[in-house]
Amino acid sequence: MKNLSNYIKTNSERFLTELFELLKIPSISALKENSPDTRLAAELIKKHLVDLGLSNCEICETPGHPIVYGEKIIDANLPTVLVYGHYDVQPVDPLNLWDKDPFKPYIKKTKVHPEGAIFARGACDDKGQMFMHIKALETMLEHGDLPCNVKFMIEGEEEVGSDNLEIFVKENKEKLSNDIILVSDTGMISKTIPSITTGLRGLSYMEVEITGPNRDLHSGHYGGTVANPINILASMIASLHDSNNKITIPGFYDKVLESSEEEKKASSRIPFNLDEFEESIGINSVHGETGYSTIERQSIRPALDVNGIWGGYTEEGSKTVLPSKAYAKISMRLVPGQNWREISSLFSQHIKNITPNGVSSKVTEHHGGEPYVAPTNTIGFQAASKAYQEVFNLKPIPTRDGGSIPIIALFEKELNSKTILMGFGLDSDAIHSPNEHYGVSNFLMGIETISKFYFHYSKLFRG
Ligand code: BES
Ligand code: MN
Ligand code: MN
Repeated sequence: MKNLSNYIKTNSERFLTELFELLKIPSISALKENSPDTRLAAELIKKHLVDLGLSNCEICETPGHPIVYGEKIIDANLPTVLVYGHYDVQPVDPLNLWDKDPFKPYIKKTKVHPEGAIFARGACDDKGQMFMHIKALETMLEHGDLPCNVKFMIEGEEEVGSDNLEIFVKENKEKLSNDIILVSDTGMISKTIPSITTGLRGLSYMEVEITGPNRDLHSGHYGGTVANPINILASMIASLHDSNNKITIPGFYDKVLESSEEEKKASSRIPFNLDEFEESIGINSVHGETGYSTIERQSIRPALDVNGIWGGYTEEGSKTVLPSKAYAKISMRLVPGQNWREISSLFSQHIKNITPNGVSSKVTEHHGGEPYVAPTNTIGFQAASKAYQEVFNLKPIPTRDGGSIPIIALFEKELNSKTILMGFGLDSDAIHSPNEHYGVSNFLMGIETISKFYFHYSKLFRG
């Protein structure tokens, strides 16, 4: 096992070259025109699995983007690790804010990553992090001592809600059976402070359409006499929070599980610098629910945010128009206790209730998913903890993350197994934003940490 890091160091250039090939493919799941690219990405991943000698490698078709599967079953007495990740990426707009082409990966030094970071859409979320697992497997195989059975399931629709993966999981429980699920699609506290994500928020994603007059009107002739859908939508949205920044939808908090004193204490011990947080995103003050810290607001408390709002005239110059319609996309991040379908219907009902005379409203549910909390008293957590400790010389801190990976809660329900979230991204890596990047050392140390996880897990599993 001691030569793992040697192998990784010796082969790091090639690992990066191979990752670059994957990053060059614009596998944006949200855009139809990129469907051929998502398939190319799936095929390239399958090729890597085939080259590593995995069995039953296949591209599993879905009504959307395909799922890549492959496995290496070496011994029925060894535990089986199911690796999950996604090869799809977020759209790149606004393109003009990128320093270079998002699909022409390059390495540049940054303040946070003085050794260099890989810049490209998907570098961190999730191609770079997913690829660490393929290279960790290669590293273990090259040592002739893969200590667990492994199954890989890499999907292409995580960024659009994983609807087809949900069906795939339900239909393939036997094939996907495992002892533990391993995922790298989250972050760590900082470059030197490792953490293991023990919770993810759920999600309910809605769209609201407000309709007023049957056509766009002259805003002079009609202005002041007709309910303007954009004015109305703006005030409806404003009313969704009260003066303490609590969400006003009746019943919204009813089932929220408050965290225990112990959890509160643990979260207050997580290293967090408010000034640095504010500075890193260019704000002069944080904002949120009264009575909770920023860490709590972004992890154990729910949130409601408008993701986009449009209507009327938004082109160059001015046009005097009172629009017929206004739209908003609204997401709610959910915490344990809340059920996304229930919250979605509370939201729809509330929008209906607060729609004033003079306009009509229509609410569409996009996608959703349940929150996830992982226990820390498992051998999976212990194994991950040991692996981090060996590579980073520091015990990892359990943290609950504000983001969502909706399929993780479904894994627990359908496959009855826990997921270990070993993420190596940093908040400053700009996932979903222009100039997304991923530290070269995060990538290489991630490969090492993952490889070590297998050894510790196998050992603990066999007692
Ligand atoms: N990898 C992220 C989730 C994430 C990021 C978790 C950072 C924790 C820390 C994932 O790809 C993602 O972006 N998920 C979406 C949800 C999806 C249904 C669109 C999200 O959280 O917005
Ligand atoms: Mn992701
Ligand atoms: Mn993402």
